[in-house]
Amino acid sequence: MSEKRKESGLGKDLVGLENVSGETIQAILDTAEPFKEISERAIKKVPVLRGKTIVNLFFEPSTRTRISFEFAEKRLGADTVNVAASGSSVVKGETLVDTARNLEAMRIDMVVIRHGSSGAAQFLADRIPSNVINGGDGQHEHPTQALLDMLTLRDSFGRIEGLKVCIVGDIVHSRVARSNIYGLQKSGAEVAVCGPRSLIPTRIEEMGVQVFTHIEDAIQWADSLNVLRLQLERMNAGFIPSLREYNRVYGVTQERLDKAPREIVVLHPGPMNRGVEIDSTVADGPQSVILSQVTNGVAVRMAVLYLLAGGAPERAEEAKKGEE
Ligand code: CP
Repeated sequence: MSEKRKESGLGKDLVGLENVSGETIQAILDTAEPFKEISERAIKKVPVLRGKTIVNLFFEPSTRTRISFEFAEKRLGADTVNVAASGSSVVKGETLVDTARNLEAMRIDMVVIRHGSSGAAQFLADRIPSNVINGGDGQHEHPTQALLDMLTLRDSFGRIEGLKVCIVGDIVHSRVARSNIYGLQKSGAEVAVCGPRSLIPTRIEEMGVQVFTHIEDAIQWADSLNVLRLQLERMNAGFIPSLREYNRVYGVTQERLDKAPREIVVLHPGPMNRGVEIDSTVADGPQSVILSQVTNGVAVRMAVLYLLAGGAPERAEEAKKGEE
């Protein structure tokens, strides 16, 4: 098992992409390729994780990530349990570690955690022997979202290296932006961000990221835009004058995309605020790969689960045929 883990380059956990190498990211994306086909079958199941028990511990709302992980786990034959904060003893004051230790006492193998606090996934990973996968922690990282974004870019362009990707919108509150910046740069892409200065972290240029404050300039530069939601729930006050004003100045509209020197591929991690950061004509139009991102999310999460369980990237093709 440990020998196989060395082959994938992943350790016990996937908490973020900051400390994951470009080679390992490539191995995860390559492993996801054969797993895509499993979801297209009439019987969407292989016994890769048969006998493994996985807990999806979601302390924040989620549609895509939670359901995508659950599908990935079930399609690989694992037994899964979903725990939401609202239905658990967390509402009675139980700590994160006590919750996890109680789950461990029931002999689980992996935990997928989403939490509102940055660092929660690492905190858990340091305290329990099960594999921990970060499904998004506060404003820190959301590694599987960035991996599925990269897989979708690779599908669209045939490569990630050399691509110019601009992340647009609420960068300062975004775990998706951080994971994308790390993952894309390690994969050889050029990364920029675009938004009002109030929504861009100070000194982000020190990460090697170009900053645009006009969406028109970003559209002239980019091969792809990854448009982020305005995270109104994380804003205290004063970040933007109004949603209407934000849409007028930064909204990704078809009219703006039509002025690009090349056909721009548009991503959005969801959930979308239609008419705020992105117009419906773009979200539902031919340049959008937003639903492909969702489809790829299942394959990427299958790959991460398989590799963390000790699977080797070069054996994924056999694994998908059900050969053990
Ligand atoms: N992209 C994403 O994390 O979506 P959810 O919040 O619905 O999981």
